[in-house]
Amino acid sequence: MAMIETANLTRKYGELTALDNLNLVIEEGTCFGFIGPNGAGKTTTIKILATLLKPTWGEARVDGHVVGYQNHLIRPIIGYVPDFLGAYEDMLVCEYLEFFAACYGIHGDKRTKVVGEVLELTDLISKRTADVNGLSRGMQQRLSVARVLLHDPKVLLMDEPSSGLDPRARIEMRELLKELRRMGKTILISSHILFELSELCTAVGIVEQGKLVYSGGVKEMIAKAGGGSIVHVVVDDRHQEAAALLKGVGGILKVTMEREEKAIRIEVTIDPKSGMSVSDIPSRLIAQGFRIARFSQEQVNIETAFMRLTKGMVS
Ligand SMILES: Nc1ncnc2c1ncn2[C@@H]1O[C@H](COP(=O)(O)OP(=O)(O)OP(=O)(O)O)[C@@H](O)[C@H]1O
Ligand SMILES: [Mg+2]
Repeated sequence: MAMIETANLTRKYGELTALDNLNLVIEEGTCFGFIGPNGAGKTTTIKILATLLKPTWGEARVDGHVVGYQNHLIRPIIGYVPDFLGAYEDMLVCEYLEFFAACYGIHGDKRTKVVGEVLELTDLISKRTADVNGLSRGMQQRLSVARVLLHDPKVLLMDEPSSGLDPRARIEMRELLKELRRMGKTILISSHILFELSELCTAVGIVEQGKLVYSGGVKEMIAKAGGGSIVHVVVDDRHQEAAALLKGVGGILKVTMEREEKAIRIEVTIDPKSGMSVSDIPSRLIAQGFRIARFSQEQVNIETAFMRLTKGMVS
């Protein structure tokens, strides 16, 4: 059984459908990157899994337990890091963690030990006796993670844990997440920093307008979006003819034309499995008497793949 599973998960806010029959499957031990444009439904999904929102219909399960019916079985096994920083009481870092550990029913020597462990894991030992309100945003973010680790949950639900962090703090957060992944936790993480997710995650899901448009590996996602190389060509004239010529060449997946300021740019997507070489393109054009004004090549990466899949360019 998957660690996280939703079946036709639907959530409405009044007339607005934020989640529209979302079917998500996340296996145990996966670090799953949840991506999608603003308003796509990522936070809504995470809040439902964290038992803070009820589905309008459909079902969400965490480790087999149904959200809305078995919340008491779900809460002890999840750690939820929200997308906003909560207001902190006037407390020291260690007092703050002791307080939450007590809330989770961890007492005595065990509590001292657990607090020490999470401080070490989140690299906050030197801040033990610092005032929580005096911490930088990056440290507060790490403290949020420390807090949800106290009860050693199997599942971490993290809503943009790296947002607003400077590059160093982001790298530190990424290292922390890698460590948690190594510990075998199932992690659902939403983020807009796609390169970061591609390095961290074993699988990604793209949600758009409350629907899942892709779920699977990053490499497969790039392949689904057309993969391989994209070549941009500008010829002096007879653009339509040049595009038609390229369309007929085996190994070329897609040819589109885009109007630029003074030129028409032909974008050619090459099938990575075809063995078609990028340099075949200019030679074919030249052989037919075309004059090439500009030629460039780019690799499809997770960002271009995301742009293509969410624009509905690929079905
Ligand atoms: N409490 C609410 N009341 C009404 N509409 C809401 C509420 N919360 C979210 N929505 C709407 O539901 C849709 C999904 O929002 P959600 O916050 O889940 O998106 P998101 O993918 O997390 O976006 P972002 O990338 O901006 O964080 C949006 O259209 C949003 O305006
Ligand atoms: Mg959100």
